[in-house]
Amino acid sequence: MDIVEAIRSRKSIRGFKPAPVPKEVLSEILDVARLSPSAMNTQPWEITVIAGEVLDNIKKGNIEMLTAGVEPHADVPLLPYGGIYRQRQVDLAIHLFKLMGIAREDKAKRAEWLQKGSRFFDAPAAIILSIDRSVDKLASHFDVGAMAQTICLTALNYGLGTCVQDQCVRFPKVVRKFTSIPESKLIVISIAIGYPDWDFPANKLETRREPLESFVTWCGFD
Ligand SMILES: Cc1cc2nc3c(=O)[nH]c(=O)nc-3n(C[C@H](O)[C@H](O)[C@H](O)COP(=O)(O)O)c2cc1C
Repeated sequence: MDIVEAIRSRKSIRGFKPAPVPKEVLSEILDVARLSPSAMNTQPWEITVIAGEVLDNIKKGNIEMLTAGVEPHADVPLLPYGGIYRQRQVDLAIHLFKLMGIAREDKAKRAEWLQKGSRFFDAPAAIILSIDRSVDKLASHFDVGAMAQTICLTALNYGLGTCVQDQCVRFPKVVRKFTSIPESKLIVISIAIGYPDWDFPANKLETRREPLESFVTWCGFD
């Protein structure tokens, strides 16, 4: 697949077919993604790939936390956004809920959607990206971001869809309980991965982007 075509066609997938993703395929994707750039080639990413019973246990654990009303305590929390950034976040939710037929005031359906998200959108596999607590956080979060995007783009080559998700690692105790990720590592983000169910309404979402003029400044061109 052409690189520009891949970038243009990548989108977050929130509905998957139950078919498992072969370990060899996931391994090939990660073998490509390990070529991602990183600050001073430090390659700070550590990757845990989960499927089967481990994934099921984490899904169940996340739901238990949610239903018990436990406050999220992510290792790398996403802090609330304001202004235009909050507006874009709200726009996304409006579009997603419209496609999913979830009314703003329908608390039960909203809770159900939150649960589906916390179950990695029922993907058959997921990738957890973590870093050692000793490394520089700003630079290594950038590096993990580059790695995450490379994984998502490479996955397209195998007919796979992905969704980068912070919501599945908001209860790191659950993730640690069922994986070998120790306390000395910061769990940064997760990626749900599987074969897209193109009939799933949320997968029809086309997110918007601002035009170049709104965020690019050209210097020294004329
Ligand atoms: C750091 C990060 C965290 C995200 N967390 C979630 C999440 O928890 N749940 C979700 O549905 N999407 C999540 N996303 C996906 C974004 O909502 C999505 O990338 C954005 O709306 C743009 O849409 P697109 O990926 O379809 O182009 C996350 C993306 C990033 C980069």
